[in-house]
Amino acid sequence: MALDKNQIELDLKSALSEIANTKNFDSLKQVKIDHLGDKSPLARANQSLGSLDAKDRSDFGKFIGDARSQVNEAFRKKTEELESERDVQVLQTERVDVTLAKPRTLEGGLHPLTILTNEISDLFIGLGYNVAEGPELESEWLNFDALNIPADHPARSMQDTFFIEPLEAKLVLRTHTSPVQIRTMLTQKPPIYVICPGKTYRADELDATHTPVFHQVEGLVVDENITMADLKGTLDYFAKSIFGNDVKTRLRPSFFPFTEPSAEVDIFFNGRWIEWGGCGMVNEKVLIACGVDVKKFSGFAFGMGLERTLMVKHGITDMHDIVEGDVRFSQSFGVGKK
Ligand code: PHE
Repeated sequence: MALDKNQIELDLKSALSEIANTKNFDSLKQVKIDHLGDKSPLARANQSLGSLDAKDRSDFGKFIGDARSQVNEAFRKKTEELESERDVQVLQTERVDVTLAKPRTLEGGLHPLTILTNEISDLFIGLGYNVAEGPELESEWLNFDALNIPADHPARSMQDTFFIEPLEAKLVLRTHTSPVQIRTMLTQKPPIYVICPGKTYRADELDATHTPVFHQVEGLVVDENITMADLKGTLDYFAKSIFGNDVKTRLRPSFFPFTEPSAEVDIFFNGRWIEWGGCGMVNEKVLIACGVDVKKFSGFAFGMGLERTLMVKHGITDMHDIVEGDVRFSQSFGVGKK
C-alpha cells in the first residue's frame, strides 16, 4: 500500500471528528474499533511502513505515530468526559432521600398465652424448678390410669375426651398436663421440682368461656417432708407474681383422683373470690405407681388453665379473643415489643 500524507491526514480528521461526535459508551466502543483497532486506516498505514526505504520509513513513521497519538489522546479525553457525565447522572438518578419515611410493617410478636407461659416458666425456674414437656397425643394409661382415674370415671367418657382411632391403640389427646407428672416421676428420682406448661384438649364447643384446645400449667414437687404448707406458700408466691402483691389465695376442699387431700385454689382479685385451679398432695397410689418410696417422700401438685388465668388477669370476657388470633387483640399485650 502506497502511503500518502494527505490520506493520513484525512484519516486523522475523520477519527478525531468521530470521537468528538461520540455521545455514549456504545459508539465510543465502535469508534475504538474503527480508528484505533488493528484494521483501522492508521494502523494499516503503520503496518505498511516496513515496505518503505529507511528515510521514508522514519519520515512516515513520525507522521503516522503523531497522528495515532492524537487519536489516542482524543479517545482518552472522550472516555474521561463520558465517565464524568455518567457519574453525575448516576448521582442524580440514584439519589437517596434519607429523610423519606420508610414504609412501616408490623413486626411479628408473641401471643399473650406464650408471653404468660414464658413468665410462669421464668418465675418457677427462679425457684429452682425445671420445665418438663410431654406429648399432646398421650397414652390412656398415662393420661388416666396412672393418675388413679379408673375406667368408669366420668372424665374418660366420650363427652370430654378426644379418643384417637384405632381405639385399641389406647391413645387420647391429653385432657390435662398431669401425665407429664407421671412421665417425670417414671424417669427421675426425687427430689423433683417441675412445671409442665402445654396444650390440652377436651371435647367442648368454642364459646365465651370454653375452647376445645386450651393450655394448662401443672406443677409437681416430690421431696422429703413436703406438706400442704409448702403447697400453699408456693401458690401464694405464684399468684402474687401473676396478679400482683395484693392478691390473696385460699384453698377450698375438693376432689381429684390423683391428689389426696385435694383443693381448689381461689384467688381474691379485683374485689371477689375467683376459682383459679386445682391442687393437692400427690395421692400415694400415684406415687407408688411411679415407684416413689412413700415412706421417704411426699409431694404436691397443682394445675391451672392459662386461658382462664389470662382472662382473670386482664378482664377478658370472651374466649374467642384469645383463640382467634386477631392481631388487634394481641397488640394490646405489646405484640412486637416483647
Ligand atoms: N389435672 C387437673 C385438671 O386438669 C388439675 C390439677 C392438677 C388438680 C394438679 C390437682 C393437681 O383439672
